[in-house]
Amino acid sequence: MSNSPIQIQLIQPDDWHLHIRDGKVMKDVLADTARQFARAIIMPNLKPPVTTVDLANAYQGRIEVNLQSLGVTGFTPLMTLYLTDNTSVDEVRKAKDAGIVGFKLYPAGATTNSDAGVSDIKRCHAVLEAMQAVGMPLLVHGEVTSAEIDIFDREAVFIDQVLEPLRKNFPELKIVFEHITTKQAAHYVRDAHTATKNNIAATITPQHLLMNRNAIFAGGIRPHNYCLPVLKREEHRVALLEAATSGGPRFFLGTDSAPHAKGAKEAACGCAGCYSAFNALGLYAEAFDGIGKLDKLEGFASFFGPDFYSLPRNTKKITLVKQAQSIPAELPLGDDTIVPLRAGEAIAWTLA
Ligand code: DOR
Ligand code: ZN
Repeated sequence: MSNSPIQIQLIQPDDWHLHIRDGKVMKDVLADTARQFARAIIMPNLKPPVTTVDLANAYQGRIEVNLQSLGVTGFTPLMTLYLTDNTSVDEVRKAKDAGIVGFKLYPAGATTNSDAGVSDIKRCHAVLEAMQAVGMPLLVHGEVTSAEIDIFDREAVFIDQVLEPLRKNFPELKIVFEHITTKQAAHYVRDAHTATKNNIAATITPQHLLMNRNAIFAGGIRPHNYCLPVLKREEHRVALLEAATSGGPRFFLGTDSAPHAKGAKEAACGCAGCYSAFNALGLYAEAFDGIGKLDKLEGFASFFGPDFYSLPRNTKKITLVKQAQSIPAELPLGDDTIVPLRAGEAIAWTLA
């Protein structure tokens, strides 16, 4: 019998939801993603946000400069625009022509750098109409923002108060329900997507597949496990894992890896975001392997995303090995450091 580790081969995955920030920190985080993924959808929540095609082109230029200085050739950033109350119909058409892959809806105040987000979706009706007409996807941070709504309920309430009316008003609009965290969201997307109607999908992060909300409070407060939407109860984690491993084309990989410097997380009011990019594929493989569903990983990670966005699937193959990789306690982040997800622990799988 051979002692070589268990391996799986798959078509190279893409990350359909990623934050790489800007300036000095971008190079460090981009290196981690580009080592594993062929493409990534780049979130526009910079300060100030990426609200126009001109700003997105400039941002893409800065990404290319960093890729060049890293010596990376086979990685493509896919650009998005940040939807505001003032986004114009003209910008939607311009974005379509420029190859922008989607507009991101942040309800104002929902999360990191969302202050310029949409205050009331009704203000965006003309723009949503235009997006629907040209086939421009809407990428949704699905949480209501009212302080009275319990933070653990904000996603489920969003479905009833915002998403369902939105889908009634714009039945042909392509929607990605980003980083879903609840059973309600998983079932909503599963049931909304039928053989004849397939314009809604969802991304799922590794942390929501691997952890429940206890992980934020295990033996003390754990700021590096805090993200938004926040981790939920175990029953929700189980439902998300079931969705991700179902083989259904409506669920695909989006890490939502969201770098914040160590000091910004370990603070009296710490930022939301988990840095999963360091070994994101290992985290997903561990989650799928944990329930004996590794055979479903390739569809989730490599096929269903490009299919939904009408982009070609990748052709290059990668190999994942079942070989514990220890995760450093800290990694460089520009002039600071960052604490990656599972810092100081091991992840069962890694890229060969
Ligand atoms: O945890 C999060 N961090 N959730 C988001 O929606 C934004 C992200 C960030 O940009 O840091
Ligand atoms: Zn995000």
